Amino acid sequence: MNQVDYLRISLIDRCNYRCQYCMPEGSELDYILQKDLLTQEELLTLIKEIFIPLGFSKIRLTGGEPLLRNDLVEIVNQISSYEQISDLALTTNAYFLEEKAEDLYRAGLKRINISLDSLNRETFNNIIGRSAPDLWQKTWRGIQKAYQVGFDPLKINVVIIPGLNEGEIEDLAELTIERNWHLRYIEFMPIGNDELFKNRAWVPSTEIRERIKQRWGLIESQVKGNGPADVYQIPGAKGTLGFISQMSECFCDRCNRVRLSADGWLRPCLLNETGQIDLKKALRSNQNLEQLQQAVRLLLTDKSDINFKLREKGALSSYTRTMSQIGG
Ligand code: GTP
Ligand code: 5AD
Ligand code: SF4
Repeated sequence: MNQVDYLRISLIDRCNYRCQYCMPEGSELDYILQKDLLTQEELLTLIKEIFIPLGFSKIRLTGGEPLLRNDLVEIVNQISSYEQISDLALTTNAYFLEEKAEDLYRAGLKRINISLDSLNRETFNNIIGRSAPDLWQKTWRGIQKAYQVGFDPLKINVVIIPGLNEGEIEDLAELTIERNWHLRYIEFMPIGNDELFKNRAWVPSTEIRERIKQRWGLIESQVKGNGPADVYQIPGAKGTLGFISQMSECFCDRCNRVRLSADGWLRPCLLNETGQIDLKKALRSNQNLEQLQQAVRLLLTDKSDINFKLREKGALSSYTRTMSQIGG
């Protein structure tokens, strides 16, 4: 089993976008109440007293949209001051990055992953479920700003959905020819919008690779991430193309992460809803921190292999939480 040393923290379950594959407009989400969000102090206590002693060295802040959290820069500032944390990253939709990238960089954030599913304004708005005219431009400026400020590597997440942005596979890949960005195609998962998944289905990574290969050729990259992506490159390109294939493959054997929801539930796996620990309740009832650490240590040893194929066989019921609630 891999060492589990990577904690993904959802700071907030709300988002200013309504991506069709994540939290579509009209879906009824029970947002976590303000009083139930882990406070900055609780979060830092958990990191210092539980996760660092258990050997965690990588943290990703995610959501929902983590930039909606007013205390984000301060949280980054605090976490980056812990010498045991060697990697501190953020996943965002980039809407607020133009204003915030510089502060985040100065506060010690090292890496940013950004969602960008289309280069076409209309398609982009259709996918993110918002209609203001300048949203794509603002997102693009946020990406540029993050790059100028110095975030490296800069990763761009793309979810390809048949009939929506499938025609842009090559256009998106082309971004990496002149830019040293890491673009990753993530297979669409049936979490968040079952209806869309049933109607449109998903595009396997092998198919996406084949299309790119037909156009430019494709080689395996020497650059390897620490995540689930298989990394390739267009020959001569400055950037890379990653493929996260959780629908067609099982990468549980190289999984190094656990997830903490904004209301303090620690879950062993994105797809596993059993065995979670309510860390907020434990903190608020003054549970002994050593005991709590023991409970978390136990959870880390029970990261059993579980992927979509298992679920399809009916081993588990459907998801009760979306990616925005779990921490995408
Ligand atoms: P880094 O390598 O640290 O940059 O992280 P990452 O590759 O996990 O990147 P990111 O946080 O942007 O995750 C991208 C997407 O990959 C997520 O939104 C998920 O859709 C998918 N993903 C990441 N981790 C897992 C995992 O453990 N299981 C599954 N099934 N999907 C995952
Ligand atoms: N399938 C695949 N990826 C998803 N994300 C959210 N919902 C889904 C889904 N149903 C990912 C997007 C985004 C990140 C925050 O979460 O890639 O970049
Ligand atoms: Fe928001 Fe990201 Fe979900 Fe889109 S994928 S709705 S940007 S949390």
